[in-house]
Amino acid sequence: MAVFSVPSSLPFHLLSFPTLLLLSVFTTPINALNRYTCQYPTQNPLSGCPPNTLLVGATAKYTTIQSAILSLPHNDYPYNILILPGNYTEQLNITRSGPVTLLGQTAFPTNLTKNSVNVVWHQATGTASTGTLDNAFTSTLTIAPTLNSSLTGSGPTGNTVPADTSFGNSDFRAYNLNFVNDYLPYSAGPSLALSVSYANAGFYYTGFYSYQDTIYIGKLGNAYFSRCEIAGQTDFLYGFGTAWIQSSRLSLRGCGGGITAWKGTNTTWVNKYGVYISESVVEKANSSLSIEGKCALGRPWNAQHRSIFSRCYLDDSIVPSGYIKWSATDPRFNFNTTMAEYHDYGPGFNLTGRLAANVTVLMTDRMWEPYSAPEKVFVYPGTNGREGNVGWIDFGV
Ligand SMILES: *[C@@H]1O[C@H](CO)[C@@H](O)[C@H](O)[C@H]1NC(C)=O
Ligand SMILES: *[C@@H]1O[C@H](CO)[C@@H](O)[C@H](O)[C@H]1NC(C)=O
Ligand SMILES: *[C@@H]1O[C@H](CO)[C@@H](O)[C@H](O)[C@H]1NC(C)=O
Ligand SMILES: *[C@@H]1O[C@H](CO)[C@@H](O)[C@H](O)[C@H]1NC(C)=O
Ligand SMILES: *[C@@H]1O[C@H](CO)[C@@H](O)[C@H](O)[C@H]1NC(C)=O
Ligand SMILES: *[C@@H]1O[C@H](CO)[C@@H](O)[C@H](O)[C@H]1NC(C)=O
Ligand SMILES: *[C@@H]1O[C@H](CO)[C@@H](O)[C@H](O)[C@H]1NC(C)=O
Ligand SMILES: *[C@@H]1O[C@H](CO)[C@@H](O)[C@H](O)[C@H]1NC(C)=O
Ligand SMILES: *[C@@H]1O[C@H](CO)[C@@H](O)[C@H](O)[C@H]1NC(C)=O
Repeated sequence: MAVFSVPSSLPFHLLSFPTLLLLSVFTTPINALNRYTCQYPTQNPLSGCPPNTLLVGATAKYTTIQSAILSLPHNDYPYNILILPGNYTEQLNITRSGPVTLLGQTAFPTNLTKNSVNVVWHQATGTASTGTLDNAFTSTLTIAPTLNSSLTGSGPTGNTVPADTSFGNSDFRAYNLNFVNDYLPYSAGPSLALSVSYANAGFYYTGFYSYQDTIYIGKLGNAYFSRCEIAGQTDFLYGFGTAWIQSSRLSLRGCGGGITAWKGTNTTWVNKYGVYISESVVEKANSSLSIEGKCALGRPWNAQHRSIFSRCYLDDSIVPSGYIKWSATDPRFNFNTTMAEYHDYGPGFNLTGRLAANVTVLMTDRMWEPYSAPEKVFVYPGTNGREGNVGWIDFGV
């Protein structure tokens, strides 16, 4: 996995270990103040962890992560799961509503390249074993209350989720883990590393590695990523929900479709569905790739697509037009299609190319303002767009 780099001007939050030890009390859920002591490798791995923490590892009570997840009661009580270094070949599926935090054991809790826990699955849609099964069945990690709510479906509005489906996990978090779907080392059908629907999920120093449709944020899915790496080739950020990606690296492993392929949903209440990539780096995964001017920032899965790259560094892999239409015969592009940028920079930001193609919206301060912070885009479902649905986000990372 390639070297992780983020703009050097970004702040780091480091606390001294004595301070952390004093704060290592029963907290709900575990927060940035005490996670370092819990994650730090010690003779008794759970020392430094709050009592509501389960241990997973080859020699631990739970040898698979999913067995630990399934042992949790279906209530609102928060649990943490500390995972020892290793490669875990399994699919994870979180259906409970109470908070769950997955922690990879590490002496380097602020360095993603040192992650030593990999959750690996190898599956794509349309293979001999998946046939016409929905993309949901391929994902390495799924956070959704039911199978039906996790289905992508097809058509302009996708799968219809039963109206009586209640919200799933209210506060899922993962720190210092990698989720891999390595079905084949190139785009060969949807192969999800992450799927989030009817749930709130935050990811920190977490890697996601696949080639096609790496991350799916489905209906009523809210996902926040900070200091993560997301690697893909084709439409690798897709969905119906809301995602904010902060201070992270989008690694281009090739070009196909676009980086983002969002499908806006017309609800009876005000929503800000979309994917917002902020102060991040978009660059080829390694120097042996020859993809100059070939990768699109995104394309509209339907005409209500909304994605905004703001203050991002773009390397020379990006096409001069920035975004592209879905296809020549099926553009899916109209007045409501928001494929936008705000103050991007780097060799991939070609102003002449953007203006000539007239596909990418170059936002003014006024256009950007309603989408300029996580607090503004994560609205409470079913309200008239009430903002500030961010209690589940760790802004300390
Ligand atoms: C996990 O797999 C990778 C790639 O096969 C290997 O390099 C690494 O050593 C493995 N890690 C552990 C902890 O076994
Ligand atoms: C993270 O670890 C890598 C690999 O050891 C190292 O090259 C890099 O400098 C580290 N980054 C930070 C921010 O410490
Ligand atoms: C996840 O678990 C739920 C409950 O056990 C199950 O109904 C569903 O099929 C699982 N989802 C997937 C995608 O396997
Ligand atoms: C999901 O639920 C909807 C609405 O109840 C139903 O029409 C559909 O058949 C369900 N899909 C599956 C695959 O069960
Ligand atoms: C560069 O990335 C591509 C796409 O993931 C991969 O196939 C190739 O092996 C990588 N090359 C090197 C030298 O790491
Ligand atoms: C959303 O639905 C309303 C009511 O059904 C309709 O008037 C409006 O045109 C729709 N908007 C979009 C963008 O489809
Ligand atoms: C654009 O969205 C507005 C507001 O939702 C809607 O009224 C209008 O019909 C949409 N226009 C198109 C061309 O979809
Ligand atoms: C920028 O875009 C214009 C118009 O498409 C193109 O002629 C030019 O070669 C591009 N410049 C670079 C450096 O790619
Ligand atoms: C760009 O496209 C918009 C519609 O998406 C249109 O209103 C506008 O006139 C176009 N601008 C140019 C310079 O072609």
